[in-house]
Amino acid sequence: MNKSIFLAAMMLGAPLAAQQTADSVQPEGAATGVVQSLDPVVQGALQAKASGTPFAAKDWMVAAANPHAVKAGADVLAAGGTAADALVAVQTVLGLVEPQSSGLGGGAFLVWYDAASGALTTLDGRETAPLAATPTLFQDENGETLGFFDAVVGGRSVGTPGTPALLQMAHDKWGKADWAGLFDPAITLATDGFAVSPRLAGLVQSDAERLASDATGAAYFLPAGAPLQIGATLTNTAYADSLTAMATQGASAIYTGEIADAIVTAVQNAPGNPGVLSHVDLSIYQVKERPAVCATFRAHDVCGMGPPSSGALTVGQILGMLDGYDLSAGPNNANVRRLMGDAARLAFADRGRYMADSDYVPMPTAGLVDPAYLADRAKLLGGDMALAEVSAGSPEFDHALNFADDYPIDLPSTSHVSIVDSYGNVASMTTTIENAFGSRMMVGGFMLNNELTDFSFRSHRDGVPVANRLEPGKRPRSSMAPTIVMKDGAPVLAIGSPGGSRIIGYVAEAIVAHIDWGMDVQQAVSVPHMVNRFGTYDLEEGTDAAALEGPLSAMGFEVGVRGLNSGLHAISIGDTLLGGADPRREGIALGN
Ligand code: GLY
Repeated sequence: MNKSIFLAAMMLGAPLAAQQTADSVQPEGAATGVVQSLDPVVQGALQAKASGTPFAAKDWMVAAANPHAVKAGADVLAAGGTAADALVAVQTVLGLVEPQSSGLGGGAFLVWYDAASGALTTLDGRETAPLAATPTLFQDENGETLGFFDAVVGGRSVGTPGTPALLQMAHDKWGKADWAGLFDPAITLATDGFAVSPRLAGLVQSDAERLASDATGAAYFLPAGAPLQIGATLTNTAYADSLTAMATQGASAIYTGEIADAIVTAVQNAPGNPGVLSHVDLSIYQVKERPAVCATFRAHDVCGMGPPSSGALTVGQILGMLDGYDLSAGPNNANVRRLMGDAARLAFADRGRYMADSDYVPMPTAGLVDPAYLADRAKLLGGDMALAEVSAGSPEFDHALNFADDYPIDLPSTSHVSIVDSYGNVASMTTTIENAFGSRMMVGGFMLNNELTDFSFRSHRDGVPVANRLEPGKRPRSSMAPTIVMKDGAPVLAIGSPGGSRIIGYVAEAIVAHIDWGMDVQQAVSVPHMVNRFGTYDLEEGTDAAALEGPLSAMGFEVGVRGLNSGLHAISIGDTLLGGADPRREGIALGN
């Protein structure tokens, strides 16, 4: 079935199950074709996306990964709610219709522009390591690292969730609407049911074996032992109950009481792979407000989430190094892509050496995005061939820089939400449970994260500590890069993406596309991806990007052509708001 027709039908609650088969699951690919919907606003959003044009609006806009969630946020904004109010509605619906990516059992980072004060700030709702966790959590009795999924599936990988507390803090600080009412859209959908989307069905199908490891999740995602089908009507009364508790008691309903009991019991008794998360971990969890980290690119301030995320620092390093180079030849020019690819490799070298939770590890945060340091690093890009070797630099810092390079494992999941409200506030939030379906453990109708596997599995390299080693209470390094781009003190772009550590490349590339290549936000989120992290240049298969395989190989890059499943959601802010939704996922941008 055409994906756009499906999405439109989703909004109508139309049952589509009968004629759907697993073969028709297409989690990726452009949404094209005829759009049918009774809701003209949603129809317009679907049509805009299908035709490759941004959704235009004057007063407010929301862009996110699922039409149900976007509609819930749009209704809040239309009723005079703020972006913080809309975030609650969007996130609670995403946790229902896109449970593989984010939810109450996960963590999130929010970058917030406050129109009244003109201030930019961030909320860190990252998961924390349990107090009883040790640096060898992901090693066996011989000190060998566990296989990735041996670590992920079960209780061992579960960190203290941060998303419920982040929603509460954002609403307390910047909300106007009645808190409880913001849960109504998700409670209604969870109770009445929603149609399983192609992406959810496809991911359940491909993950069925791991989902079967948890009895609650198996009953939900594999009813009667078979994966959910596209269009099947799915209800989630346990989730409706959790939302009702949070609506009436606040976020503490997740951190104490019956839901907390259920989380701790499930984690500590996970068959074969128990974890150590405790009631104390849940009850002491705190969201941290932190200053935004900004870097300069073409007279813009590109601002985002600092440590424990590597997002803003690494995006900022890439753009800061590119600032001295002319990229106007565009996305299909091999030399432009050489510069972008090697700037990313240099930035990832610094990321691997220095970036972690700065509450635990001294970090040269300012030095890493210092323009003089980046200009110096950028001189390395002056040739015409790929750099033969890339290693971490020496940013300005008043501590001994004595960390070993880490051992990265980064796999994609996650979701991004961009919102501008009618008061001029801007929210850019990236939200995650880490791997698709997180730890595969379902409690209270939501999935528990596996965020602890974002720590380095090894604590040392050749006797030297790794900055991102696991420590009790520490927050694992993230790649999430919720971003607000500022020009002359005013916000001009909100953007972010899922995609594991490729998030950094997707966001940096889209900002270059928008600012340097003059693309509108829909074009910018659709540009064929070329992403380099640790050396291999990944080119997006089935797109113009793949044509650069030969030229980039000839320059000395190791090149791979593969699917690159970003989920960029962006809003450009000027006299008109323009929204873009990544054609590789199911989301839309909607405004008025
Ligand atoms: N788990 C994805 C990230 O935080 O980067």
